[in-house]
Amino acid sequence: MSKILYISSEAFPLIKTGGLADVAGSLPIALSKQGEEIHLLLPAYPQVMQQVENTQQLASSHYYGLDVSLLETHLPNSDVPLWLVNCPAAFERPGGPYMDSDGQPWHDNALRFALFCQIAVDIALDRLKLGWQPDIVHCNDWQSGLVPALLASFKQRPATLFTIHNLAYQGLFSQQTFTDLELPGNLWQPSRLEFYDQLSFIKGGLVYADRINAVSPTYAREILLPEFGYGLNGLLQHRQARLSGILNGIDQTVWNPATDPHLTANYDSHKLAQKSKNKTALQKQLGLPVDARIPLVGMISRMVEQKGLDIILGAMAEIVNLPIQLVMLGNGETHYEIQLVKWANNHPDKLNVVIGYNEILSHQIEAGSDMFLMPSTFEPCGLNQLYSLRYGTLPIVRNVGGLADTVVDANDLNRKSKTANGFVITEQSAEALLTTLRTALGLYQETAAWKKLQRAAMKGDFSWQRSAGHYIKLYQQALSDRDQAVV
Ligand code: ADP
Ligand code: GLC
Repeated sequence: MSKILYISSEAFPLIKTGGLADVAGSLPIALSKQGEEIHLLLPAYPQVMQQVENTQQLASSHYYGLDVSLLETHLPNSDVPLWLVNCPAAFERPGGPYMDSDGQPWHDNALRFALFCQIAVDIALDRLKLGWQPDIVHCNDWQSGLVPALLASFKQRPATLFTIHNLAYQGLFSQQTFTDLELPGNLWQPSRLEFYDQLSFIKGGLVYADRINAVSPTYAREILLPEFGYGLNGLLQHRQARLSGILNGIDQTVWNPATDPHLTANYDSHKLAQKSKNKTALQKQLGLPVDARIPLVGMISRMVEQKGLDIILGAMAEIVNLPIQLVMLGNGETHYEIQLVKWANNHPDKLNVVIGYNEILSHQIEAGSDMFLMPSTFEPCGLNQLYSLRYGTLPIVRNVGGLADTVVDANDLNRKSKTANGFVITEQSAEALLTTLRTALGLYQETAAWKKLQRAAMKGDFSWQRSAGHYIKLYQQALSDRDQAVV
């Protein structure tokens, strides 16, 4: 058993912008069930404070001249202790965790997450005298990237693991910010935190963590290549011996079609007929023609380049002429939102676009759709294809990252060997997307074959149990690497 400080900038159900929240809200619970002693550290955003109960102040201090206190409570529906970094000047504001209500990054993001890292370091070194010191500090994405860098010079320190959820987000700021944050001057070097004259938070994790992992085996290999490495592939190659991939799991209590409270009709692989009631309900709710036979394709996504919106828009003129309905839920870059809404307004019987963030509707789309579209340009793991598999909603995905690790194309060979569970687009182009979509539509007409695929999809085990075990092994490796590290 190890003591683990798990650091994240979001965690479901308290605060979520994407898959990191799903992971941070479920992996700690799985680790705790396997006997690890884990504390989750999160900023005390207003959305979080509204949902937690019985908070107790454990410590208070100052970082960058700001009052900061550490509060203790529990991650809802679990025994996992949750520590909240309460700094009203940094976190108590309307808007999201990283951006204001207009979608602009907070001007002081560097300061906000540097102080988040500073208090994590003080916990790690037992400077706050909490009576609990971690053996392992598990950092996630750039917001906690400075932690391994700031801990590295200490002889007596916990081991560090840095998990890459998305290499495209690096936490880059000016050299002046580096100075303002009073980071140790020797960190300003290209082999350390400097990245082409900028301060890179993520490099703190990539350069200094005892171990690094990506959220799928394929993404762990892809990021060694220039096309997926966002300029960090060289560094990652250098640290390749310390880099591995662990596929994310899913919270099977939150995402379970047999018990999901947001569905019109619950179902499982033996009661697949019930699934169509969710389709009818979705069609009604969104004002689409109600027709059980017309294939319904769903998509739930941040609307950013990563998610393949360019090839969807490139294929849209043909998509609206196909015998399908397409339902898209998401928000993100305005130019994508505007173009998609325009297409939807012109083809209201074919395309329905809901701009916004809606947790309940996301469950209803997963259950009510026949297929799920995810043509990402890159995808570190991807959770929606896993939710889709569990909901018998066959995913149509690009063969990248975690999508390649979890979706097996329904070609003849894979169908024969009963491994097929979805459809794979083998190239990032509108034509390739349309070809795969047409193949899926063809197979949809073969009811018995389709049902077989659905059952195969629903049988897949993407629970956290296995992956949590991999993390426990990785923690042990991080500890032994730390012991061999030369300070
Ligand atoms: P990423 O983290 O890159 O956004 P993932 O597939 O790992 O991609 O996770 C995305 C998570 O966010 C899923 O749980 C998905 O359902 C959810 N999500 C994304 N956009 C929305 C939205 N507009 N409304 C509700 N949930 C959303
Ligand atoms: C990132 C990735 C996504 C992954 C998620 C959780 O946001 O884009 O692929 O599933 O993190 O690890």
